[in-house]
Amino acid sequence: MEQNDKLRIKKGDRLKGKIALVTGIGSGIGKGCALMFARQGAIVVGTDLNAPGAQNTVAEAAEEGLTIHFSQAVDLTDESQVNKMVDQVVAEHGALHILVNAAATAVFKWIEELDYAEWQLTLRAELDSVFLVCKAAWPHLKASESGSIINFASANAYMALDGSPALAHCAGKGGVLSLTRQLAMEGGPFKLRANTISPGLIVTGATAPVIEQPGFLDAVMAKNMLKRLGQPEDIAWCAVYLASDEASFVTGADFSVDAGAIAW
Ligand SMILES: NC(=O)c1ccc[n+]([C@@H]2O[C@H](COP(=O)([O-])OP(=O)(O)OC[C@H]3O[C@@H](n4cnc5c(N)ncnc54)[C@H](O)[C@@H]3O)[C@@H](O)[C@H]2O)c1
Repeated sequence: MEQNDKLRIKKGDRLKGKIALVTGIGSGIGKGCALMFARQGAIVVGTDLNAPGAQNTVAEAAEEGLTIHFSQAVDLTDESQVNKMVDQVVAEHGALHILVNAAATAVFKWIEELDYAEWQLTLRAELDSVFLVCKAAWPHLKASESGSIINFASANAYMALDGSPALAHCAGKGGVLSLTRQLAMEGGPFKLRANTISPGLIVTGATAPVIEQPGFLDAVMAKNMLKRLGQPEDIAWCAVYLASDEASFVTGADFSVDAGAIAW
């Protein structure tokens, strides 16, 4: 059996009855989390700027007999769109227990080529979007008395990868890591947990073109103790744990899911 199939097939009830908002369901890790959460019994509401991508995920879920709710494209860097979307989720489903912030985009350039507009675009898409969704969802997650926020930092929040022009991305992901620790502290009295996952290189829409670049894969594999690339399901299983009641003592933590890359 292929590694991907082994990671994907399991169905269960780890998240039964929980209402989860997952951003970035149109591709990669967000898509993988939305599908895995639905397989584990959560009521999943997905969002993305890319409506066809999101609809494709909804259709894939339906092929497995699962439901993922998606209504319309939302730009998560737009405060009013974010607030409206979160209000709608709570109006339709009555509560919110889990927030997975997987949507992001970044401009990858060396400092000498990266202009200020690209720097700002990256920080808006990687950091502001996470702040806006967390802020809009906060009162509802707090009210649930068992809320869980899962944000995405990165191996790049800890280390520079030789050959990768990731300046703005490193700043954005360092920001997400720190922001989430502060959220954990503010949420603690309300049993609202906030954690980050720091993926290594995962094959997604964002990384597929980069992996093709000469030398890049060699640099990644040199750091990976487990000599394979990651799949969205590798990350989604970690997110299932962090969202579940089994993780009720876990907050302010960062989970490296990176084949050992930052431990080396
Ligand atoms: N793939 C990796 O190797 C890797 C490694 C470390 C961290 N991460 C992080 O994991 C998360 C998911 O990454 P991915 O590789 O799956 O990305 P991806 O590009 O494959 O998917 C991201 C999705 O987010 C959506 N999106 C982007 N900006 C948006 C916005 N403003 N509003 C609404 N939707 C928006 C995109 O349309 C896309 O569908 C990101 O935070 C990324 O930084 C990924």
